[in-house]
Amino acid sequence: MNWDTKLYDNHHGFVSKYGAGVIDLLAPKAGEHILDVGCGTGDLAYLIARHGAKVTGMDSSREMIAAARDKYPFIVFDVKSAENFSYAEQFDAVFSNAALHWVLDYTGAVRCIHRALKPAGRFIAEFGGKGNVSNIREALKKSLEQNGYTQVANKSVWYFPSLSEYTSLLEHNGFRVIFASHFDRETLLEDDGGIRNWLKMFGQSYLKDIGSDETEAIIKQVEEQIRNSNFKNDTWHADYVRLRIMAVKQ
Ligand code: BEZ
Repeated sequence: MNWDTKLYDNHHGFVSKYGAGVIDLLAPKAGEHILDVGCGTGDLAYLIARHGAKVTGMDSSREMIAAARDKYPFIVFDVKSAENFSYAEQFDAVFSNAALHWVLDYTGAVRCIHRALKPAGRFIAEFGGKGNVSNIREALKKSLEQNGYTQVANKSVWYFPSLSEYTSLLEHNGFRVIFASHFDRETLLEDDGGIRNWLKMFGQSYLKDIGSDETEAIIKQVEEQIRNSNFKNDTWHADYVRLRIMAVKQ
């Protein structure tokens, strides 16, 4: 994925806005060292640092890390993949917001997170759970198929586990889950681009090799299919479903 960090920051501010609630669950304390996995352009790492904690942010995207370093030069940011990373030191807590649904080797990620934590260290995460963006996904799949892109339509690019799947995964890998919640969060797409911008930002894995005219046609078809369900009070909404987790390293 090549991320357009300006489009991300200027039009998808809700990602960080909702992340603030996950920081409340993290309850960072002064002097702690916290790892932010999938930190994007660093806004939540910065909010955590403002609690007096030392933060290290990591993201697999070079563009995201370059933007994060530009914005917050006093925070350490590393290009590392959540699927396979290690640090010499161990952290008091690992935090992750709206990132783990991109990590298809989710077992690898959980093992790395476990290894990165001190004994009794906490893992706090929120990401897309089972059923996430199902209206958008189904409409996109149908439009891609209608336009002859059957193979692309069937690609798996996101991981949206159920609560029981993910808590079992954590338990099998040395965590005690102390809180887990699977809930709907219909999310207002505040900018004028609505679903169109959402697809351009997050649907790249499906659309990147399709010409611009055809992409336009596919996006229009998606809009038509989900207008009744996802366009309310003159505004587009994404049918987000979240999984929020707090677990402790055993
Ligand atoms: C999400 O935050 O749920 C999400 C973002 C991008 C693609 C898919 C899901």
